Amino acid sequence: MQTLIAPSVLAADFANLQRDVEMINRSEADWFHIDIMDGVFVPNISFGMPVLRDIVKHATKPMDVHLMIVDPDRYIETFAKLGANVLTVHYEACTHLHRTLQAIKAEGMQAGVAMNPHTPVHLLQDVIQDIDLVCLMSVNPGFGGQKFIENTYSKVRELRQMIEAKGASTRIEIDGGVTDQNAKALVDAGADVLVAGSFVFRAQDPVATVANLKALTNATSGTH
Ligand code: DX5
Ligand code: ZN
Repeated sequence: MQTLIAPSVLAADFANLQRDVEMINRSEADWFHIDIMDGVFVPNISFGMPVLRDIVKHATKPMDVHLMIVDPDRYIETFAKLGANVLTVHYEACTHLHRTLQAIKAEGMQAGVAMNPHTPVHLLQDVIQDIDLVCLMSVNPGFGGQKFIENTYSKVRELRQMIEAKGASTRIEIDGGVTDQNAKALVDAGADVLVAGSFVFRAQDPVATVANLKALTNATSGTH
């Protein structure tokens, strides 16, 4: 399977958002990763619907929307209408996760579940077949530019085993602190999608940086 690269718009220059969106369009990136924070589930507020609407106007690639908000069920329809292709909710924010996943799919989107660094992946074993994407947080959600948490590798391996054992087609996404130093090891452990914010947008040449991540992670096949 091809490894997908999803630059996180959180690290873009919001005063030059069209320019940055067009830069990602031109690059080898596969998805736009969109971080929505409510200041309650996470101690930060990012941006909301009007900004996403304007990103979608210019973007030519799928929207991978990561909701770091409490009670995400309230906004499923809204994000579908805005053009989200993958909608990811946090495991820790959902009391009725199975119901939430069905509601996301009923709106025609792929259903994602994000897990905080402290949340064990085995908690997904009874719902994994209903999940299109698991986003393993490799930093504590809320901010870009944080240091990658090394324990993530063992979580990726455990999750990959679970997906294979259950015969599921779930993708594994890694979010936080991804660089050219850990990208290949993450793919070898079983990751399918790498989110990268600061590493792409703070680079001298973001387009070349995406190309490099793409080349690094697709050079040799992973374990799956
Ligand atoms: C963190 C967000 C991430 C963030 C990643 O809460 O979910 O998507 O933008 O940023 P970097 O790649 O800078 O760690
Ligand atoms: Zn994210």
